Amino acid sequence: MKKVILTLLIGGFIMTGLSANPSTSSGTAGTLAFVYFSATGTTERMAKNAAKEMGADIFEIQPVHKYTDADLNWHDKKSLSSIECNDPKSRPAIKAVVSTSSNTAFDISGYDTVVVCYPIWWAYAPKIVYTFVESHNWSDKKLITLCTSGGSGLGRSGTDLSKFAKGVDFKGGKDFTRSSGADVKKFIEGLLK
Ligand SMILES: Cc1cc2nc3c(=O)[nH]c(=O)nc-3n(C[C@H](O)[C@H](O)[C@H](O)COP(=O)(O)O)c2cc1C
Repeated sequence: MKKVILTLLIGGFIMTGLSANPSTSSGTAGTLAFVYFSATGTTERMAKNAAKEMGADIFEIQPVHKYTDADLNWHDKKSLSSIECNDPKSRPAIKAVVSTSSNTAFDISGYDTVVVCYPIWWAYAPKIVYTFVESHNWSDKKLITLCTSGGSGLGRSGTDLSKFAKGVDFKGGKDFTRSSGADVKKFIEGLLK
């Protein structure tokens, strides 16, 4: 009998260990990662604060071509960002999607939920974020989209992006330009309840 109880206890400990989530201490079900693209640092700040608050892994989408001030000039119809935003087929190349703390490459198979964070460019996500979502297999994955903006908000950007994430379960999104990591955590926990 003692042996049976001991076996059950050890089994219980092993199961608890296996189901523990190393990526989040948020109480949300399953593992969660933040993946962000940021040209001038606002989205990076928002995503890093939120990931820290949730104890989640965080990865940066690094472009092959780093955007210059001239590239980001929305007054210029010929700037790189204007050209990309006006071309539905534009898919700027990604150099790497890497962890900001360990230089590890992003691997979607390790996560149940991916929180994609980006700045609003002409009411939508920058095209490089489309490159990111199109290059992953989203079946059985949940997607949340967070943005920063000059004031126009998330709009249809999350819904549009989710169309290119084949098989995804899109949970929703929000503009968190002027919010704390705790605000983001509360929002995400609400979506994943
Ligand atoms: C090319 C370009 C287009 C933009 N279009 C919009 C827009 O349509 N609506 C808006 O509110 N802000 C717009 N913005 C402002 C950015 O969304 C905002 O400054 C954002 O926080 C920048 O994030 P980042 O520092 O992470 O790149 C635009 C910025 C750029 C560079």
